[in-house]
This record gives sequence, C-alpha cells and structure tokens, in this order.
Amino acid sequence: MKPDAIMKLGVVTQLICELFTYGLVAITVFSSAFGAPLFAPITAFVVLALFIDMAVGTCDPWVRVLGDAPKEAYDGKVVWITGASQGLGEELALHLAKLGAKLIVTSRRIDVLQKLCAACDACSASDAKPLVLDARGGASAAKKASDNALQMAKQMTGNENAGIDYLFHVAGGSQHAAAEDTTEEVDRDMFEINVMSAIGLTKAVLPSMLGRRTGTIVAIGSMAVKCPAPGQATYSATKAALAAFCHSLRGEVADRGVRVTVAHPGPIATGLGGQTRVVYGATLEKSTCDTDAGKSDEKAKTNASEQKGAVVGKKEKRLDAGWTARRIAAGAAFGLDEVVLAKQPIMLLRHFMRFVPTVGYRVLNKVGPKRTRAARSGKSMYDLK
Ligand SMILES: NC(=O)c1ccc[n+]([C@@H]2O[C@H](COP(=O)([O-])OP(=O)(O)OC[C@H]3O[C@@H](n4cnc5c(N)ncnc54)[C@H](OP(=O)(O)O)[C@@H]3O)[C@@H](O)[C@H]2O)c1
Repeated sequence: MKPDAIMKLGVVTQLICELFTYGLVAITVFSSAFGAPLFAPITAFVVLALFIDMAVGTCDPWVRVLGDAPKEAYDGKVVWITGASQGLGEELALHLAKLGAKLIVTSRRIDVLQKLCAACDACSASDAKPLVLDARGGASAAKKASDNALQMAKQMTGNENAGIDYLFHVAGGSQHAAAEDTTEEVDRDMFEINVMSAIGLTKAVLPSMLGRRTGTIVAIGSMAVKCPAPGQATYSATKAALAAFCHSLRGEVADRGVRVTVAHPGPIATGLGGQTRVVYGATLEKSTCDTDAGKSDEKAKTNASEQKGAVVGKKEKRLDAGWTARRIAAGAAFGLDEVVLAKQPIMLLRHFMRFVPTVGYRVLNKVGPKRTRAARSGKSMYDLK
C-alpha cells in the first residue's frame, strides 16, 4: 500500500470508530420513537464496551485497531528525529530503523548519537547519521541544521530531489515544580527548548517539504495539554503552545501535501537505564537541562543526591517507551491528527475533561495540591497516597 493510501485508511478508520456509536445510538433512539426499536441490545452493548474501554484503555480505540505502522510507510524514507539520544527519541529511532527508514538523529551529544546510529544500522539495512543541534540555538542554528539534514538526505538516498519525509520533534524537557516557585529563567528556557526550537526547525524544513509537496511533521506534546498538570504549569503551557502551533499549521498547508500529527503521551517510563532525563526544577540550578547533566552515571548520581530534575514514579504507572514510540510512529504513518496515550487513571481523567469537564476540574482541584506539595518537597508526583 502507498503511504497516501495508508493515511486515508487511518483517517477513515478513526472516522468510522468515532461515528459508529453515535450512529447506533441515533438509530436506536429514532426507531424507538416510532415504536420499533432497532439495534437496542447491540447499542447497549457497544455503549457499555465504550465506557469500559474509557476506564481501562491506554489509547483511543482507533489507535488500537490500526496497530503498528506498515513497513511501506517508512521503508526508504528519510526521517529526522530530534531528542534521539535517549528515551522516547531513541526508541523511535530503533523502531523506525527496523521499518527501513533512513535516519538523521539529533541531540547535543555526538558520542551518544554515534552509538545509536551503530545500533540502528545493526537493526536493518537502513542508514543512520548523527547531526548535533542545540535546541537553544535559535532560527539560524535551525536553518543551518536543516540545510545539513537536506544534504544528508540527498547523500543517503542518492537522489538530488530527496528531502525530509518525516520530522519528529522529540527534544524537550519536563518539569517538577510549583508555578509560584518557578523562576522566569526556567519559564523562558522551557519555552525555548519545547516550543521555539520546534517552531524554528519546522519553519526551516517546511519550504523543502512544500516544494516537494510531501512530508509529515510530528510533534510530541503531552497529556498535560489534554489534562492540566499541577506541578508542571510551565511545561503544560509549552506543550499546549506547541500543539496549537502544529494544529494551526496543519490547516495552513493541508492542500500542499504536508501533514501534521501531534502526540500527547502521559508519563512514559524513560530514564530506566540510569540516564538523566531533561527535567526542570524551580530554578535552573535545580534543573538537569545542561548537556553534561546527561553525560555520565556519576553526574546522574550527583543529580539524584541533590534532588535535581525528575523524581520519577514507578515504572508500572508509566507507559512503556517502546510501545509509546510504536503508537506515535503508527499515528504519523496513518495520518492521524492526534495520538493520545496514557495509563489509567490518567486516560479516564482525560475523558472526564472531554465530556464532563466540571468533574474533571474538580478532580484536579483535589489531586493538584497534593501533586504540587510533592513537587515542592522533592517527592514523586506520580505515586500519591
Ligand atoms: N517521559 C515522559 O513522561 C513524557 C511524557 C510526555 C511527553 N514527553 C515528551 O517526550 C519527549 C521525550 O521525553 P523523554 O522522557 O524521552 O526525555 P529525556 O529522556 O529527558 O530526553 C530528552 C531528549 O531531548 C534532548 N534535548 C533536551 N534538551 C535539548 C537541547 N537543548 N538541545 C537539543 N536536544 C535537547 C536530549 O538530548 P541531549 O541531552 O543529548 O541533548 C534527549 O535526547 C520530550 O519532549 C518530553 O517532553 C515525555
């Protein structure tokens, strides 16, 4: 199947899943009004199944129905992943290498990227190349990196007309701090890394995608956009800003061959191998946003003892990073506008925020102060008693 057909399949599957229940309910209600109820038991069963899915599921039904991305979607395609040195970005790179993608992997650490490229090369016959970029570099750094990436795409494919087929914005930092304690430097740095860098890189790559009338931009937002996250106010604001930019951009370029997918994962079990995650505290001194913060195990130990950055929750309460990467890769391949993923009870709270927001906000008013107290005292916000 061609990539365009795969995208149409994805969108039609989502539409059918969305309309199926409404259609059944409408037919049952209208037919009942005329004294001959149609599908009543089936409708009752489907509605019950939907409620159960909302209470136990970790993604929307169509994301589950569609499954993994077909190999054809990525085979031979040039995929640029930022934030690829660890965590979700690394998992994405390894997954897409297995699907035959030609990868350009970006972060600030060349040594880690080189090891990742070797691991990707070992996965399949595809190609993987490192490209160093600091997200704080502004528009000129983004333009330079984009020019380099386009050159790499041409070399990797041996095609002068090649370009970036998929751009995954994964680089970013999280936050564990109360809004009242968070300094302006932290606010600005987080917007620089989570929002401005992705906007700058998108603008740098967009002309070539529009020129070739093909390309998919994928941004990693957060469940914090769907479900406000007390203790992570600036983080939530950055991800909401990124999502709003991407959704608006989608509407601007929809008739010129460029697609946009935004993923909103809940907590992901990254950093399990002892890597220091990029997580902001109330001040820059309490944050692990510097390059050397992720460099060595020794530094990671120091950060942990100084309570810098993340105090992560239990693995079982967070999404598996490999599973999350596969769902996001599939969402982009199937042309989905959004991919929302989270463990329970966060997913259930997201449904409340959608359908009964008054209840959702009341639940947050109960949980939020405890989460914020945990963030302020350096404890995990995910394991509240
Ligand atoms: N983990 C979660 O629970 C979770 C949940 C929802 C959304 N997300 C989002 O998913 C993405 C990945 O999360 P993760 O847990 O895998 O993060 P992570 O382990 O902390 O890794 C962050 C990545 O971003 C890169 N990065 C950070 N600052 C950078 C900068 N100034 N310039 C260039 N690259 C930079 C890092 O590379 P270098 O340090 O090598 O430069 C690293 O590859 C982030 O955008 C995060 O906000 C995470």
